[in-house]
Amino acid sequence: MLKKLIDVELGALAELEGVEDQERLGEWKVTHLGRKSNLMKTFDDIRDLPKEERPGVGRQANQVKQKLEAAYEIKYEQLRADMITQALMKEGLDITLPGHPVMRGRFHPITQTMQHIYRIFSDMGFQIYLSREVETDEFNFQLLNFPPHHPARDMQDSFYIKTDTDQGDNPLLLRTHTSPGQIHAMREYARMDPDNPPPVRIILPGMCFRYEQVTARSEMQFNQIEGLAVGKHITFGDLKGTLSDFARRMFGQHVRSRFRASHFPFTEPSAEMDIECFVCGGAGCQVCKRTGWLEILGCGMVHPVVLDNGGYDPARYTGFAFGMGPERVTMLLHRIEDIRYFWANDIRFLEQF
Ligand code: PHE
Repeated sequence: MLKKLIDVELGALAELEGVEDQERLGEWKVTHLGRKSNLMKTFDDIRDLPKEERPGVGRQANQVKQKLEAAYEIKYEQLRADMITQALMKEGLDITLPGHPVMRGRFHPITQTMQHIYRIFSDMGFQIYLSREVETDEFNFQLLNFPPHHPARDMQDSFYIKTDTDQGDNPLLLRTHTSPGQIHAMREYARMDPDNPPPVRIILPGMCFRYEQVTARSEMQFNQIEGLAVGKHITFGDLKGTLSDFARRMFGQHVRSRFRASHFPFTEPSAEMDIECFVCGGAGCQVCKRTGWLEILGCGMVHPVVLDNGGYDPARYTGFAFGMGPERVTMLLHRIEDIRYFWANDIRFLEQF
């Protein structure tokens, strides 16, 4: 019996040496460890042995079984590793091929324009002042010299906010322009020294909201950049100088600008500023609608009532203010024809900037 077991073991191991693929290995397992294998038959035969021989042979048979199982495991792992190596060699992985490019993010075109505008005005000594997007009627209109029911409010249809309590003549709304920030800023500056308020030189960027039909030219949500300079002896000449200089830095050194009389309740006098069309140089083209000029902002001298509401004595202080739309500036700079692209979140549009 013991001799037979040794033959079984040596025979099986010798045969295993020659096994070279998984299929043959499976067959080997059935032959040498399966139900009908010689080894398993030996286990059956043990019952017929004399009692005293059984434990020795049984132990030996178990040892052979364990050895064959261990040999099988080793062979199995080895064949698997060989298979992977071979597959890799065959596939010829070319590690010099370029990988998949990682998409790089960047600032939204509007943000880029706004940052450019911030840079120009900070060079001129303006600071950025952030003001709230939810306003009261008082700040958005009344303190800016729009009395309740004033027809100038029609230019700015508003999103009002429902509140539990009736706010009377002072409902909450989403700001329709950045101008209410003028009052917040002036009051904050004036608090520092109420008898002699310090000069103000700020820009106020941010989102504004109007209840408007969305078209290629107007969105109901858009940015503005407001500017405000208040101090002693500030004149319309300062306004013109500051804004013309801004236009040259924004649109090109040779760009000319002009001011047309206009009206805003919170400035007096008021003007719109046009720049000479930088596409055609003033000759007339599609972008400027054959006029040679592009309208880019509204401006004016801060109205005495507004100065007063901000805590600045209009007898001693003057100031100028302006407001422009970065969306419009971006559209002109890049000749974008539809303002809705800015919110559409289409990567084919955004990746061009
Ligand atoms: N707030 C005005 C608007 O939204 C723009 C403006 C700002 C005009 C400051 C003059 C001075 O149309």
